[in-house]
Amino acid sequence: MLNGEKMLFSGMQATGTLTLGNYLGALNNWLTLSDEYKCLYCVVDEHSITVRQDPAELRKRARNLLTLYIAAGLDPEKNIIYYQSHVSAHAELAWILNCYTYMGELQRMTQFKDKSAKHADNINAGLFTYPVLMAADILLYQADVVPVGIDQMQHLELTRNIAERFNNIYGDVFTVPEAYIGKVGAKIQSLQDPSKKMSKSDENVNASIYLTDDRDTIIRKFKRAVTDNEACVRYSDDQPGIKNLITIYSAVTGKTPAEVEAEFAGSGYGDFKLAVGEAVADRLNPIQAKQADLLANKDYVDSIIKNNAEQANYLAQKTLRKVQKKVGFPERIR
Ligand code: TYM
Repeated sequence: MLNGEKMLFSGMQATGTLTLGNYLGALNNWLTLSDEYKCLYCVVDEHSITVRQDPAELRKRARNLLTLYIAAGLDPEKNIIYYQSHVSAHAELAWILNCYTYMGELQRMTQFKDKSAKHADNINAGLFTYPVLMAADILLYQADVVPVGIDQMQHLELTRNIAERFNNIYGDVFTVPEAYIGKVGAKIQSLQDPSKKMSKSDENVNASIYLTDDRDTIIRKFKRAVTDNEACVRYSDDQPGIKNLITIYSAVTGKTPAEVEAEFAGSGYGDFKLAVGEAVADRLNPIQAKQADLLANKDYVDSIIKNNAEQANYLAQKTLRKVQKKVGFPERIR
């Protein structure tokens, strides 16, 4: 809670090409929550440099992501849509919170273990303290709710622990945030190996639907999706490929898994896969067109970037000043 308003914070990395998993696990829920809260949607470019990036490419991807938020339906007049690197308080609070986070806690983070295995030649300190920057993002705005996919739950738990630890020492400084996990789509699996999550870093391009994929590509990838020999559209753990496709279709159409089963009772997998592909393309294609318009409208997007960063800075400073005072930094002389 900040200034008497219920707050929502969430963000995405501007790394790689976003997937349908990012859209259904996060962005889609952001849209449904944005009327109930004062919302901040951040492009977390500072998190991205924990893995080596090409600077020009990172800048481009960050702008693509920011425009995607808007194209997907988040209103930049009502919500604060901004770059993490434009609000220096994120990094400043992260430093302070680093001093209230234990090495053991960070060593347990599965994302750190996965990423260090993947980038064995660059296990940098930023990769290790990545979750502390994420905690700073959230706590800076006194977020009540943080909509994320299941893979971010461990980081959310750590954020809550850091907030509670800090509050126990200094009084009620931070709102302890709750995760919001959507009813459907919180864990979208790979189309080629339904035991793995759909990930932007998968080397197999057929495993993921990218938010930039055109209609034909989307339909082709769904046609190739791995299924089974049961020949029955059923929402069951015994049929993980079909279950994943039902989840995707449910998330996009708003139908329940039972309704999807009923709709495709007696249909072959070919028809079902085509329907899923068409439904996903129908959802993504208009967003892509809107994003292209925004990217062409430089002045408008620049004005959003400027105005929204100012609003985020204003809110962030409130919490940062309070925290600095609590830990004992000298008062500023005016
Ligand atoms: P990132 O950029 O990896 O993912 C962005 C969001 O997409 C969700 N997601 C998925 N959901 C369902 N199925 C999938 N296959 C799938 N893949 C990704 C993620 O759970 C996430 O919600 N550390 C964060 C970014 C971040 C953040 C924050 C998020 C930084 N600070 C503060 C919330 C609040 C990350 O790397 O997400």
